[in-house]
Amino acid sequence: MSNKIKTTAVIMAAGKGTRMKSTLPKVLHQVAGRTMLQQVLHQVHAAGIDEQVIVVGHGADEVRASLQGQPGCHFALQMPQLGTGHCVQQALPKIPADTQAVLILCGDTPLLRSETLRQMQEQFAASQTADKPLAGLLLTCLLDNPTGYGRIVRDAAGNVQAIVEEKDATPEQKQIREINAGAYIFDYQALQQSLARLDNNNAQGEYYLTDVISLMATAGLRLNAVQAADPLETTGVNDRVQLAAAAAELYHRKAEELMLAGVSIINPSSCYIELDVEVGPDTLIYPNCQLRGRTKIGPGCVLDTDCLITDSEVGAGSHITKSVLNQASVGQKAEIGPFAYLRPGARLADNVKIGDFAEIKNAQIGSGSKVPHLSYIGDAEVGENVNIGCGTITCNYDGVNKHLTKIGNNVFVGSNSNLVAPVCVEDDAFIAAGSTITKTVNAGALAVERSPQREIANWNREKSPKAQAVAQQQNGSK
Ligand code: UD1
Ligand code: MG
Repeated sequence: MSNKIKTTAVIMAAGKGTRMKSTLPKVLHQVAGRTMLQQVLHQVHAAGIDEQVIVVGHGADEVRASLQGQPGCHFALQMPQLGTGHCVQQALPKIPADTQAVLILCGDTPLLRSETLRQMQEQFAASQTADKPLAGLLLTCLLDNPTGYGRIVRDAAGNVQAIVEEKDATPEQKQIREINAGAYIFDYQALQQSLARLDNNNAQGEYYLTDVISLMATAGLRLNAVQAADPLETTGVNDRVQLAAAAAELYHRKAEELMLAGVSIINPSSCYIELDVEVGPDTLIYPNCQLRGRTKIGPGCVLDTDCLITDSEVGAGSHITKSVLNQASVGQKAEIGPFAYLRPGARLADNVKIGDFAEIKNAQIGSGSKVPHLSYIGDAEVGENVNIGCGTITCNYDGVNKHLTKIGNNVFVGSNSNLVAPVCVEDDAFIAAGSTITKTVNAGALAVERSPQREIANWNREKSPKAQAVAQQQNGSK
């Protein structure tokens, strides 16, 4: 890449976001699984910029906490918030000394693409070799309805002269359709000098970042603009209607990216696949599936209708139908559902089958094992090639503590058994249907725990004590 200029990003995220009508700071609202701020930062990283100064103010602690552990993040505090120019002034002391250029973005523009940021950087870098290097480059956009945005004022030769805010614009300036998208790259020195000269003599009584443009132009510095090809990219989110629209666009982009990488999605508009999800090629996704968080689906899988999968991993060639997975891992060629519920800590090896109305929690299930119907397996270690009969449950909870059930390899658990933990069923053991197991079952043994069957001969309903009592009552009432 041509960009050898040390660039630091400044992200303005101190505003209140009044129109969100929320206790949550605006930039922490989610779009397709990331906060808006995380999404902006993601694009900044993807554009090759490793250091960022995030300017926080409203909800500062929450915003800082949301980025804990994120590499390259420096924070500056803006309190009170006196405008975007004031905001960037607060960032200056946190900008690394070797910075040559500063990329400034708003924390509420989650649709900006990293490609656009790269394009801005490349243009900026290319101009540094010219006789008169650029002092600033801004991202603009042509809108049919520019209301609310700052307008780009150019001279007769087309040079950028100023940005005029809607509230300060003359009727003629309001006719300008080229708007300021709120993304800029400035030469660091030129930015520092212009910021020092800002005032707040304007309709809103704020220190406008946009005024650095006219300050630079009047000082004879060169400015330029890149026009975003897609106007959607530049939209800022100010209310929840725009938030939903931004999220819808990101879901759409994600589905498109996956399809181009070899994933089949039968009806992309019915599926919600969050931005950090990974899906392997030749996986087929039926309608109404939602994949959330850090989910990873391997290649060649089938996610049949109505799967809700969160923070889970699924191995190659597995088939999941109408099931809910949360913090679970599934091996290769597994068969899950319909109506399976895999809860946190469910760890399934290859070729496992979990069938209808089976719930697995904090349990390891060995390869080739089956829990085909109506079971609860919690806090358990299940070996390989085990068959858990219909209706079997692990009784893992004694009202105070959770206990472990251990089942060896090749065990057959008959239908409707209760395994009262802590308990161990050793390899090759067999449990007769309907047993309640409370003690170790030794390897290769058959455990039967049932009361002997009684039989009363020639029984019929008319002679039963209940039937006789009812008959007597009826006679008495006549
Ligand atoms: C700003 C631009 C406008 C542009 C538009 C693009 C200015 C003066 N105007 O207007 O030209 O068309 O963005 O969306 O810059 N913020 C702070 N501290 C502050 C004020 C704002 O951190 O004191 C942050 C906000 O949290 C937000 C961003 O800066 O993320 C933009 O602020 P906002 O008030 O939305 O500016 P606009 O009026 O939209
Ligand atoms: Mg705005």
